[in-house]
Amino acid sequence: MVDVNEVTGHLDLAEGTPAGTRRVVAPDAPADGSRFDPSDSRQAHWAGARSTVAGRPRGILRLGHVDVTCTDLDLATAYYTGVMGMEISALTADSVYLKCWDEEDHHSLRLRYAPRMGMDLMSFKVHHEDDLDDLENRVSRYGFPVERISKGEELGQGESIRFSTPSGHVMELVADVEKVGTSRARHAPDAGSDDQPFPRDVIAPPRMDHMLINAEEVGESTRFFMDVLGFRITEQLLDGNGHQLGTWLERSHSPHDLAIVHGPNGGLHHFAFWLDDWDDVRDAADVLAYNGIQLDVGPTRHGITRGSTIYFFDPLGTRNEVFTGGYRPDPDFPTLTWTEDNIGRAVFYYEGAVNDRFMRVHT
Ligand SMILES: [Fe+2]
Repeated sequence: MVDVNEVTGHLDLAEGTPAGTRRVVAPDAPADGSRFDPSDSRQAHWAGARSTVAGRPRGILRLGHVDVTCTDLDLATAYYTGVMGMEISALTADSVYLKCWDEEDHHSLRLRYAPRMGMDLMSFKVHHEDDLDDLENRVSRYGFPVERISKGEELGQGESIRFSTPSGHVMELVADVEKVGTSRARHAPDAGSDDQPFPRDVIAPPRMDHMLINAEEVGESTRFFMDVLGFRITEQLLDGNGHQLGTWLERSHSPHDLAIVHGPNGGLHHFAFWLDDWDDVRDAADVLAYNGIQLDVGPTRHGITRGSTIYFFDPLGTRNEVFTGGYRPDPDFPTLTWTEDNIGRAVFYYEGAVNDRFMRVHT
C-alpha cells in the first residue's frame, strides 16, 4: 500500500486543477522525474553511456486482445458485429474471434461460450519474441508459475506465455500475432478508394484501446504491473489513508492501457474501444439509443485521463466503453493523484458523481 504522505511531492498544481487533486511523484520514482522501466534492459545498459541513439523498443507494447465468456454466443456475436461493427476473423466450435476495422492483427476480442459470463484472459503484445524470455524470468522470480503456449495452440498467434496476476486474472504475453490486414484502405482520405462510408447504424470503432480490471489489493497488483512487467503509472486514486483505490497504467504512451480498481479479484469492469473524436462519441450514442442498448454512464468526460466516454452493456451484461481524447504521457510524465473525497470529478467530470452501478457491477 502507498502512503500518501510519502508520495506527495512539492510540485505546484496547474491553475484550474480541481480541488482534491495533487500532483505527486510516484513511489520509488527517480529523483530526476524520469520513470524507470524495470522491463527495459536498455536503461541498465545505457547507464553512463554517451550514446543518444535509441535501441530497439523492448517489453510490453500494448493491449492485444480481450477474451471473455458469454452465455449466448449468437446474441453476443450479433451485437458485436451488428451494433459495434466489428468484423469476424474466425469461428470455431465454441468461439468467435473479432477485430475492429483498422486493426491489422488477427483479433482483439474473443467470445467463448460458457455457462457464466466472465473473463478468460487479457493478452498484451510484446515487441519481440525474446521479450517473452525476459518477462517469463521476471514473473517466475516474483513467484508465479509461467506456462508456455506453443505456436499453433492458439488461433492466429505464435508462442506465448501465461501466468496469473496477484488479482487472479490470467495474463498472456505474445509477440507473434498473425496479420490479417484491414478491410479498408490505409490511406485516408483516399479519393481512389472504393471504400464506402460506414453505415450510420454501427459504431465501427477503429481499434480496441484499453481495459479495466478489479483487484482486492490494488496496491499489490499495481506494484506487480510496474515492477515486474514495466507498466508506468499515469494516475492514481487514493483513499483517506493513502491506499490506492484505483490506478491507471500505460505502456503505449496513452493515458492508460490497463486500469485497476478496487473490487473482487478476477473481475472485469469493462473493455474500451477507441473512437477518433467527440463527434464519433455522439454518433455512438445515437447508434446505442437506436438499438436499445442499455447505457451505464454518459456521454461524458473523465477527470482521470481527461477522455470522453460512454459506458454501456452488451446484451449479456459485459460492460463496454467507447473512449477518445486524453493526453499523451511521455516517460517523464508526473503521476497525477486524486483523492477519494473528489472521486466524483475524478471519474465523471461533468456529473461530479459516480453511480452505484458503475462501482459495483462487473463480470
Ligand atoms: Fe475505460
